[in-house]
Amino acid sequence: MLEVTGLAKSYGERVALHDVAFLAAAGSTIGLLGPNGAGTSTAVSIIAGLLRPDRGSVRIHGQTIDSDTSPAKRLVGFVPQDLALYEELSARQNLRVFGALYGLRGAALASRAAAALELARLGDRAEDPVESFSGGMKRRLNIAAALLHEPMLLLLDEPTVGIDPQSRNAIFDTLAELKARGLTLVYTTHYMEEAERLCDRIVIIDHGRVLADDTLAGLYARLPVSGVLNVYLAAGADSAALDGVLRSLTAIRSLHWRAGGLSAGLTDLATGTSQLLGALQAAGVTIRHLEAERPTLESVFLELTGRSLRDA
Ligand SMILES: Nc1ncnc2c1ncn2[C@@H]1O[C@H](COP(=O)(O)OP(=O)(O)OP(=O)(O)O)[C@@H](O)[C@H]1O
Ligand SMILES: [Mg+2]
Repeated sequence: MLEVTGLAKSYGERVALHDVAFLAAAGSTIGLLGPNGAGTSTAVSIIAGLLRPDRGSVRIHGQTIDSDTSPAKRLVGFVPQDLALYEELSARQNLRVFGALYGLRGAALASRAAAALELARLGDRAEDPVESFSGGMKRRLNIAAALLHEPMLLLLDEPTVGIDPQSRNAIFDTLAELKARGLTLVYTTHYMEEAERLCDRIVIIDHGRVLADDTLAGLYARLPVSGVLNVYLAAGADSAALDGVLRSLTAIRSLHWRAGGLSAGLTDLATGTSQLLGALQAAGVTIRHLEAERPTLESVFLELTGRSLRDA
């Protein structure tokens, strides 16, 4: 559905994109992840046809966007990072304005606007002026506006920044529904948990370059540990005696002792857990409690870039 090749873009001296390439198969959801300034907004603005790249190309459904009137542009819906709404108009009036820009009118426009309002869970506030909306409701209306012309590819640039959990969930529900209908979604976010929840593939961008392009499972497989096991031991366990034994286990990558127990980084969760528990049992140590922690995308990102995603 979307084929991005060799995108480069500079703003004067500042290089925003060096060489960005990725694919989005029809019906898939792709997450674009990067710290502030990584170039994700520049990339989606180019895909939306709002910005011209210095080099590289974007093909949508096999067609290139090379002018403002390219037919491929109609296949794309774009939800910009900054809200673009008329505050004094109602939600429905806003959608009428945006629909008219796409050449919709009359009954077709009215029914598309009604459907988009329902999809964005704004049906009950349709006649209220946007200035009376919460930040989350404005974000949802922004998404509705991008859906009026029934695009096949929806680009969303940080659609959940600074909103309440209820609106965030409403947006997730909307996106899940769009996905179920077969839309291709490209989603930029700083939130790992969103990418984990929604995306089939994740493209990690930093300093205008793609650092990783993989499934969630593929990204996790790059981590040196597949999970961390926290073991809480009964009082009196001899950590000095156990330390050497546990470190010699093949599936234990790291070991850290702390008050009341230990944390072990495991190269494989199943093997590591059975080796660790077996060794503790053989040593006659009583286990009081166990918990497994899975590595997060945040840890993958740290591993790849050496910095954290949100406050880089
Ligand atoms: N209109 C512009 N003029 C000059 N520089 C720009 C312009 N837009 C973006 N940049 C620069 O290009 C780089 C990439 O910006 P971009 O907005 O694409 O990043 P981003 O990944 O979307 O960041 P954020 O997560 O903060 O939204 C940044 O260094 C930014 O300062
Ligand atoms: Mg941005």
